[in-house]
Amino acid sequence: MITLAFDVYGTLIDTAGVITALQQKIGGQAYAASEMWRSKQLEYSFRRGLMQNYQDFAVCTRQALDYVCSTMQLSLSRSERDELLASYRSLPAFADVLSGLKACQLAGFRLYAFSNGRTDDVQHLLEQAGIRDFFIDVISTSEISSFKPNPGVYANFLRRASCTGAEAWLISGNPFDVIGALSAGLRSAWIKRNPTAIFDPWEFEPTLTLENLTQLSTSLQHTTIR
Ligand code: 2OP
Repeated sequence: MITLAFDVYGTLIDTAGVITALQQKIGGQAYAASEMWRSKQLEYSFRRGLMQNYQDFAVCTRQALDYVCSTMQLSLSRSERDELLASYRSLPAFADVLSGLKACQLAGFRLYAFSNGRTDDVQHLLEQAGIRDFFIDVISTSEISSFKPNPGVYANFLRRASCTGAEAWLISGNPFDVIGALSAGLRSAWIKRNPTAIFDPWEFEPTLTLENLTQLSTSLQHTTIR
């Protein structure tokens, strides 16, 4: 039986909605601000994981926004920042996600959501995006007070999903997550939504590379010996 661990932000959930919220507040600087915000949010999660000084992913997101405001000299009040943080908690799924997940479910795969986000934050995000019911469970890295790509978070996923690395695939748009899962003994599909995206030139290659979730089920069925 094949188990699929779906990354959430940037894989299932389109964070472009944050740019819209930023545009309403800061206009033309929104795209640069959202890029810096996402990059710093992830950097803070990597640093906290390595430091073993855990705070919720929402704290990394808030502190990264404060960094962006200081660096770009954005005069956003606390309440304006809180409104932007709230936009992170209600974002849409990408257009291909509903049909892609449905096809995986019909193919008999076991589907889980697997994220840095705190369990209740991810539950809420998936519910408001209308896709929570596809997943057997939401497995958060907060269960072991760490973040991707700590090998412990992938091991915790396998334990909680009662499967081995050989039976599991990590599905993610984030190369750091794909490499982390491969390094921890899972197979992994890179969802390369941005055609100009570069996969890190390390010694790891994705097991599969797809542009979106539309062909995921058929590609997995052709690749895996069930
Ligand atoms: C996740 O959802 C951060 O996209 C990453 O865990």
